Amino acid sequence: MADFDSLQERSEDDGGLLFRSMKLEDIPSIIAIEHEAFTSPWTSDAFINELTNNHFARYMVMQLNGEIIGYAGMWLIMDEAHVTNIAVSGSFRGRKLGARLLSELQKLAAFLGASRMTLEVRVTNEVAQSLYRKFGFEPSGIRPGYYSDNNEDALIMWAELDRGEAKGRAQ
Ligand SMILES: CC(C)(COP(=O)(O)OP(=O)(O)OC[C@H]1O[C@@H](n2cnc3c(N)ncnc32)[C@H](O)[C@@H]1OP(=O)(O)O)[C@@H](O)C(=O)NCCC(=O)NCCS
Repeated sequence: MADFDSLQERSEDDGGLLFRSMKLEDIPSIIAIEHEAFTSPWTSDAFINELTNNHFARYMVMQLNGEIIGYAGMWLIMDEAHVTNIAVSGSFRGRKLGARLLSELQKLAAFLGASRMTLEVRVTNEVAQSLYRKFGFEPSGIRPGYYSDNNEDALIMWAELDRGEAKGRAQ
């Protein structure tokens, strides 16, 4: 089955930025970012399970000059891509790198046959919601009390993917 590595050469970028599939040995770096990004971070075992047992899952890392500075993942179910997580290391935020990462995730999803992408986001996470709106996501509903740490509601968002060109839209 085609995967992200078949896109890797095309995704290599100027300035030392690289997107590639997540590997098991990346997990300690991912966990460090996960802990600074989320109040209820995933465990190493959760990522191991995603990479080894979940055939619906695709995870990518974003590297800058060899350092992992972000990651994103999704489950591909039929023609739908369900985003599970996206995060950029704290000191690299606000430099359009989250936008690059989401663009690559959308390209990969389209390349693998998805026509729509969905995610949940905390209703208070205005930074992420702003990012998502730039990439065509629109609100479609609320999951009440979805986040167990503070009982916060989740906003459900959907975006149509451009399967024709499968290219980013936020340059
Ligand atoms: C959400 C996240 C991935 C964005 O990454 P980033 O690299 O900081 O974002 P970018 O610099 O690419 O900015 C993309 C857009 O996000 C929004 N954004 C970024 N920083 C923002 C800020 N401080 N305030 C408001 N909006 C902001 C803007 O819409 C921005 O577009 P613009 O630069 O054209 O205004 C990052 O903040 C993060 O890892 N947050 C913690 C984890 C998280 O919340 N993940 C999402 C879970 S659903």
